[in-house]
Amino acid sequence: MNDFVNGFWGYFIAAIALGGIVWCVWLLYTQRRWLGAKPAAGAQAGDTGHVWDEDLTELNNPVPRWWTWMYLLLCAFGLGYLLLMPGLGHFAGLLGYSSADEVARSQAGLAQAVQPVYERYAAMTPPQIAADPQAREIGQRLFLANCAQCHGSDAKGSPSFPNLADGDWLGAGTPEYIAQTISQGRHGVMPAWKGTIDPKAASDIAIYVRSLSGLAADPVRMVFGKPAFQTYCAACHGADGKGNPLLGAPNLADNVWLYGSSEASIVRTILEGRDNRMPAFGPVLSEDQIRLLGAWVWGLSNTQAASAAPVAAAKP
Ligand code: HEC
Ligand code: HEC
Repeated sequence: MNDFVNGFWGYFIAAIALGGIVWCVWLLYTQRRWLGAKPAAGAQAGDTGHVWDEDLTELNNPVPRWWTWMYLLLCAFGLGYLLLMPGLGHFAGLLGYSSADEVARSQAGLAQAVQPVYERYAAMTPPQIAADPQAREIGQRLFLANCAQCHGSDAKGSPSFPNLADGDWLGAGTPEYIAQTISQGRHGVMPAWKGTIDPKAASDIAIYVRSLSGLAADPVRMVFGKPAFQTYCAACHGADGKGNPLLGAPNLADNVWLYGSSEASIVRTILEGRDNRMPAFGPVLSEDQIRLLGAWVWGLSNTQAASAAPVAAAKP
């Protein structure tokens, strides 16, 4: 019922909770001469001797009897509460209540309530889901809640976070690939070449890489860069630089950049490498949610296929 590393803290908390109530009762007991006593006639007996404004004296009358009873009742309530509910360290309380159970129950109830909504999509293909207006609304809400902080609310990404709406993928880009990426995450690793390639040679390679996308490049240095690219880079990015989706090695010839197209950024990628992680959402989202969300993401860059999918047949 608690996550303390050892038993001590459970007893510590129980001692403070019980000790507090015992202290309150003891305090009342030490002041017992007040209990039930009526204010003295003329009220001067309990005078504290403090006088303000010449004739304003402070009395020391007992608290009203109802106040005393209320005080004791509250102490009794506190004890009763700690007996029934979990509040005394390791003691679970006689009622066995746990807020974790309550969350689990309410989540199970919610899952049951939304089940019929997702059932509608169980028999649909991803293109059909991507074309369904209600599924699209759900997909977009899931995206805004879980993905927008990294990929942007328009899914267009930013440096190191891929654009999901441009039809250009690190991997296969199929609905299955997207769903798998969501549930298992991704780890994109480009090795660092610092020890093998010196900065001058890295610049030459970067200029050759830029030329693959038709960007401004010094033709002389390109000539030095090209053979080095074939030696060090072609294994993953392909001899033509068009990438390899199986390795997650991006196409370097399409002028779509994860880290930017400047020579400095490419040199940094070559020398330092890149280590880029997408967290796994399998533990967070249900399978149904991942199906809908994946189809929505796929639909962002497959707008024609998504709108051409026959949805009427799949309606309930
Ligand atoms: C913490 C930041 C972060 C969050 C949150 C995040 N992603 Fe990602 N995502 C990344 C990074 C970083 C990559 C690139 C990984 C790589 O370089 O291989 C990526 C890659 C992807 C890819 C593969 C893109 C490609 O071109 O192949 C997809 C699809 C994707 N994310 C979808 C999602 C969806 C859907 C969500 C919401 C459930 C999400 N991501 C949430 C950081 C994030
Ligand atoms: C072991 C395979 C491998 C080798 C070898 C390799 N790369 Fe990469 N490279 C990758 C992967 C994987 C990524 C994607 C990293 C990510 O997802 O963040 C990448 C990313 C890049 C990027 C970033 C692209 C962008 O869109 O911003 C550039 C540029 C790049 N590599 C250039 C090179 C060059 C130049 C070489 C040769 C010196 C090279 N790579 C060698 C696997 C490799």
